[in-house]
Order: sequence, then C-alpha cells, then structure tokens
Amino acid sequence: MRKPVKKGIIYTCLCNCVTEAEIRQAVRMGHDTLDKIQNFNFATVGPCGGSCLQSVIRIIEDEVNQIRFEPS
Ligand code: FES
Repeated sequence: MRKPVKKGIIYTCLCNCVTEAEIRQAVRMGHDTLDKIQNFNFATVGPCGGSCLQSVIRIIEDEVNQIRFEPS
C-alpha cells in the first residue's frame, strides 16, 4: 500500500514516498544493497520506471561508506 504524501517532505523516491533519511536508516538496519532496499521500502520500483535509481544508489553507497569508516 502506498504511503501518503506529506506536505513539506522531500522524497528521493516520489513514487513510493521514500526519503533519503529512510534509505539511510534502512541501510543501517542491514538493507545495504539495491535489491534489499527495493524489497524493504520499494524505492526505485514505482510506476515511473525508476527515475530515482541513481539517487538511491548514491545514497546507499554513501551510507555504506560512512558505516565502513566509522570508528568502532
Ligand atoms: S521516483 Fe522512485 S520509482 Fe518513481
């Protein structure tokens, strides 16, 4: 079921109302590949055909790199 669009929110995936913060949070929960993100919050698999794909990939890569280089 599609999430409702909220006024004032900037969505990375407009088709499925997924924000950058939600993608970053999902990566930190272990959904650290495009396939996992698509199955988790449906980003990039909307009716537009995935116009957000490059943005979502960039966010996943950035978040994975941040996790990789965080001091433990
Ligand atoms: S904007 Fe993400 S699939 Fe359409």
